[in-house]
This record gives sequence, C-alpha cells and structure tokens, in this order.
Amino acid sequence: MNVGILGSGTVAQTLGAGFLKHGHAVMLGTRDPAKLAPWEAEHPGAKVGSFAEAAPFGETLVLAVKGSAALEVLHLAGGAALAGKAVMDTTNPIGGPPVNGVLPYFTTMDQSLMERLQQAYPAAHFVKCFSSVGNARMVNPRYADGPPTMFICGNDAAAKRTVSGVLEQFGWATLDLGSVEAARAIEPICILWCIPGFLHNEWTHAFKMLHA
Ligand SMILES: NC(=O)c1ccc[n+]([C@@H]2O[C@H](COP(=O)([O-])OP(=O)(O)OC[C@H]3O[C@@H](n4cnc5c(N)ncnc54)[C@H](OP(=O)(O)O)[C@@H]3O)[C@@H](O)[C@H]2O)c1
Repeated sequence: MNVGILGSGTVAQTLGAGFLKHGHAVMLGTRDPAKLAPWEAEHPGAKVGSFAEAAPFGETLVLAVKGSAALEVLHLAGGAALAGKAVMDTTNPIGGPPVNGVLPYFTTMDQSLMERLQQAYPAAHFVKCFSSVGNARMVNPRYADGPPTMFICGNDAAAKRTVSGVLEQFGWATLDLGSVEAARAIEPICILWCIPGFLHNEWTHAFKMLHA
C-alpha cells in the first residue's frame, strides 16, 4: 500500500517507520521537507515532500499534525487528494498546557475535532486511531497481557476495514466504536492517557478492553 503521512513530528516519523517495516511505501508531508532529510536518510525507500505531494501519493493517508493545524494542513493537502481515501486521524485537539496533569481541549463534548474535519471534507473517510497511546508504543507494542486495544471510529466501513488491517499488522486489537460522533469519546482518552505521564512520569501504558 502507498501511505501518505501528513506530518513531520514524532507520530509521523514513528508510524512512517512502522509502515516501512511492514512493507508499505511511505511519503511524509510537511511545510519544510528539508528538516526531514536526516529521517529520510535513515529510512531507505522513504519519500519526503510537501503536504500537497504526500496526499496524492497515498492510497491511504495518515493525519499526524498538531490538532489546531489539522484543517489548515488538509487545505494544503488539497481536498481532491483526500476524496474516497481512508484518512487515519491521530490528532488530538489539545488547547494548552495541562492543569494538574489534565490537558485542556479546544473542542466540546458535543463536537469532536474529527467531526469538524469530516464536515469540512465530506468525501474523505476519516478513521480515528492511534490517538489514545504514546508514539513509543504505537508500532507492535509488547505487553504481558497481550495486544492492547485501539479505539477507532468513522463513517465508512471499507475505510475502517483498511485501518483494522493496519492495526492488526501493528499489533493492536481493534475496537470499532461506530460513526464519527464516537470521536467525542475517543479523543478525550488522550487526556486520561497523559495524566499518569504528567503526574508520575509514566508514559508506557496502553488501554485494554476486558470482556467477561
Ligand atoms: N506525540 C504523541 O505521542 C502522540 C500520541 C497520540 C496522538 N498524538 C497526536 O498526534 C498529532 C501529531 O503529534 P506529534 O507530537 O507528532 O506532532 P505535533 O508537534 O503535535 O505536530 C507537528 C506537525 O504539525 C504541523 N503543524 C504545526 N503547526 C502548523 C501550522 N500552523 N500549519 C500547518 N502545520 C502545522 C507541523 O507541520 P510541519 O511539518 O510543516 O512543521 C508538523 O507536521 C497531534 O495531534 C497529537 O495530539 C500524539
């Protein structure tokens, strides 16, 4: 699969390396491709370009940018290059520094960031994923209790099948929570995930859904 990753930060670089490891072709997109030269040199076969180059490259896309910049980045990528594609949305709408370990969000409980993105680009198939775990545990994490749970949601069933296939390769158990509105519940899991980090410097955990 050709994967276009919109972003240059730790999530984009980590997932880019993960897709390469699993045999996919990868292009990272950024406003400043020069800054990714070291990453490109360390990852033979990987490509780096602008947001407008990475989006048409990908049959499947990953959105891995600062939540407050997500709409601007999709605009730079170009709506036509998003249409009909699964867009794996890793973003969280973080609105500032934590207060007693609790991050503020610029969204509300009644409208998530992914709903805003889906509304702005109705022909793209956004799937929330990788938003509720730290980048260090995104690719084939090892836990004594077995694969952790990745909470996903989105409106398009085929896109979610594509994403579930990726998650299986990346060592996750997928829990599909339904349509885009479920991002109202999934995005705040990042707030919960970060609290032990900010309070106790614990950043290696992941969540697992237990079934009776
Ligand atoms: N870090 C984690 O462990 C983690 C875990 C789960 C989810 N997430 C979420 O994943 C996303 C990516 O996180 P990250 O830590 O890798 O990176 P980040 O620092 O949150 O974002 C960096 C990316 O955002 C883009 N960006 C920032 N301001 C911009 C602007 N004004 N206009 C256009 N683009 C802009 C940058 O573009 P350029 O490339 O052009 O500089 C860069 O690609 C975030 O939404 C975060 O909440 C992070």
